[in-house]
Amino acid sequence: MGSPVNKRILLGVTGGIAAYKSADLVRRLRDAGAEVRVIMTSSATEFITPLTLQAVSGHPVYRHLLDTDAEAGMGHIELARWADAVLVAPASANFLARLAQGRADDLLSTVCLATEAPVAVAPAMNQQMWNNPATQSNLAAIKKNAVRIFGPAEGSQACGEVGPGRMLEPVELVTLTSELFATGELDGLTVLVTAGPTWEAIDPVRGLTNRSSGKMGYAVAEAAAEAGAKVILISGPTALADPARVRTIRVTSAQEMHDAVHRHAAEANIFIGVAAVADYRPARTAERKIKKTEARLTLELERTPDILASVAALRPAPFTVGFAAETENLEQHARAKLENKKLDLVAANRVGADLGFASDDNSLLLVEREGVTELPVQPKTKLARALIRHVAARYRAKNSAPVHALRRP
Ligand code: PMT
Repeated sequence: MGSPVNKRILLGVTGGIAAYKSADLVRRLRDAGAEVRVIMTSSATEFITPLTLQAVSGHPVYRHLLDTDAEAGMGHIELARWADAVLVAPASANFLARLAQGRADDLLSTVCLATEAPVAVAPAMNQQMWNNPATQSNLAAIKKNAVRIFGPAEGSQACGEVGPGRMLEPVELVTLTSELFATGELDGLTVLVTAGPTWEAIDPVRGLTNRSSGKMGYAVAEAAAEAGAKVILISGPTALADPARVRTIRVTSAQEMHDAVHRHAAEANIFIGVAAVADYRPARTAERKIKKTEARLTLELERTPDILASVAALRPAPFTVGFAAETENLEQHARAKLENKKLDLVAANRVGADLGFASDDNSLLLVEREGVTELPVQPKTKLARALIRHVAARYRAKNSAPVHALRRP
């Protein structure tokens, strides 16, 4: 079962009496943890006002394809990229016909064409219109294009007739939308992930750390949980809430992270080291706050344990994925880490003032012995899912057995 927590759902509302339920649907999706933005067709605005959907979604409603203000903000391509899923509810017979034809003559149909995210429709119409062969052949066409059809339900209709064509209730649509995010690629496996920075104490109030926010590592942990894995996240100090469905263990220093990882490494099928672990720590931690009595102060530093290399050296070792944060020569440095630390894969990202650390977006170069794969700039949540898909496929290939048979003893 997938979860809509932290997912970005673009809700398309088309013209039909069931549009009055869209406000409740937005509220329920948000209560379930999703971020929701709404696109309305012009006929939808005859049934429910954009102001209502703006109030319940907390964002302006998008309505026009050729709107210079909207395009300067979040244009149709950004909206298409932003979405983790597009749900059209209610979807009118007219909209289904336009989707079947691949039309791009309004904002909603254009976004449906431009997105890589899964698209689902919740049809709502009179039962004669639903049963009409034209509607049924449009449905067959959009199903062939991998659009999911949610419903419709049967029952009494606003027009007084009885039959199929009622939009599913918002609570049912939330459940079906959540299932869009369940992939099953890591069913039965345990994934151990590190995230965030570490803090190496100099004295009781000062320390060495870095700008890692934990966003990338938490997104990887969530994507692994979404793919069906049991996930253990060992996190350095971050301001983020524990991800849903993930066992989160909080640590402070590189040594604590190392020890926590090794308490769980034996049960892990896959280890992914996303944490920005300090390479050095003060050789001594002062027991009291250091006073500024001298003009210069020299700190002696010593190496921290290399968590990633120590996991890759275990026998049996889990499938081990390292991250590499580099300012230049991305592939070359990543390949050196791959070989020196005997890893299965290195996910390299370019870091700099506005790149990699703390940002919401990132890109990765996946470096393996067989070659490289580029994952372009996108929200870390999406990037993490693409990484997990890649890792799951490589894990299966390496172990060349059906995924269900791959539990470690
Ligand atoms: O947390 P965010 O703000 O979202 O930022 C994400 C990120 C930029 C921190 C992340 O994408 C990233 O690049 N993480 C690795 C950062 C890093 O420390 O890179 P590195 O090249 O120094 O280390 C290489 C690998 O060795 C990493 O997998 C690291 O976890 C691991 N390592 C490093 C030192 C050490 N003592 N033990 C380790 O296990």
